[in-house]
Amino acid sequence: MKASILLLPGDGVGPEVVAGAASVLEAVASRFGHQFELHRALIGAAALRQNLPPLPGDTLAAARQANAILLGAVGDPAFDKGDSSRRPETALLQIRRELKLYANLRPAKMWRGLESAGPLKPEVVGGTDMLVVRELTGGLYYGEPRGIAPDGSSAHNTMRYSRDEIDRIARRAFDAARLRRKRVTSVDKMNVLETSRLWRQVVSDVASGYPDVSLDHMLVDSCAMRIALAPASFDVIVTENMFGDILSDEAGAVVGSLGLLPSASLGDGTGLFEPVHGSAPDIAGKNIANPIGAIGSAAMLLRHALGLEKEALVVESAIGGALAAGHRTADIAVGSERKLGTQEMTAAIIEMLNAEF
Ligand code: NAD
Ligand code: IPM
Ligand code: MN
Repeated sequence: MKASILLLPGDGVGPEVVAGAASVLEAVASRFGHQFELHRALIGAAALRQNLPPLPGDTLAAARQANAILLGAVGDPAFDKGDSSRRPETALLQIRRELKLYANLRPAKMWRGLESAGPLKPEVVGGTDMLVVRELTGGLYYGEPRGIAPDGSSAHNTMRYSRDEIDRIARRAFDAARLRRKRVTSVDKMNVLETSRLWRQVVSDVASGYPDVSLDHMLVDSCAMRIALAPASFDVIVTENMFGDILSDEAGAVVGSLGLLPSASLGDGTGLFEPVHGSAPDIAGKNIANPIGAIGSAAMLLRHALGLEKEALVVESAIGGALAAGHRTADIAVGSERKLGTQEMTAAIIEMLNAEF
């Protein structure tokens, strides 16, 4: 197959992990006889430094033309003081809105061999295999009005959800659950928020069309605790934008490292694939970032954007194989385990990929 893939490396560790994911895509192409054209464009602080807006017009145009987009991360402490038009993160919010990427799938599973990599007990985290379905183009992130009073004495944001926005993300969650263990947990704050009461009602309405999938509701504070106490009890979690942002980082800690988590941001057109983690300025430029979140995102790209399920599974089993063989980056190494760099871990995964079959 021929496909045009836009790479948006972005900031911090973004270029390092995207380089890893791009070489995995190239390995898949040569192994399976596909032609992937990889293009690159600027986003975030990388664009701001060229005196461009955080999401340059050329980047958005290239994104619309691509078959799929792979993003590293945006964010740079040097731009933290700017207003939102000069913040790297604005680019991500804009591209999600422009491409109508309302469904963000964030799987978090325990890889075999990593049960002791994180802070929780192996018997607690063992068997974790959850999917956070995060609403991505609504809620507090986009609600109007928003702003800061001219004198700086107050600021406000608006949490708003329409029935349609809730309905379509709920359907994505139930559809995903059908391919898994058929259990959806809808997470809200209905004891306080009207948006959550509407959320609960609409998700329940959608559930009636999925009699084969079970639904339960959980308050977000309680859910945060349950994810730490009994992560293996979850299958699919569906929740609004900000709750999903927070709970998915927590899920990263449960499975050993945020650096492991991939994601797919989907709408009705071109999909965008990105690790859940950010630009990690504390470790950027040192070749120590874990590339598995980005490489797993490339696998999701193969599956969801290109329909290449077999290739996606081969990449995922190469990740599993490299971990099972004991390869570790610094974030998941325990005690005296040898630490591989970003490039060495990528090479280990590609070696597994080429060795399979
Ligand atoms: P972060 O996700 O960048 O980092 C949190 C912690 O996880 C850090 O200790 C970091 O070293 C570690 N970490 C992250 N990715 C890792 C990897 N691949 N391998 C090993 N360790 C990894 O979150 P933060 O520090 O709160 O934010 C830094 C910047 O990133 C901010 O500007 C923020 O706005 C931005 N951000 C961007 C995205 C995105 O582009 N999707 C997501 C989250 C945060
Ligand atoms: C994420 C990030 C973004 C978000 C930021 C950088 C805008 O944290 O993708 O999880 O909050 O959605
Ligand atoms: Mn986040």
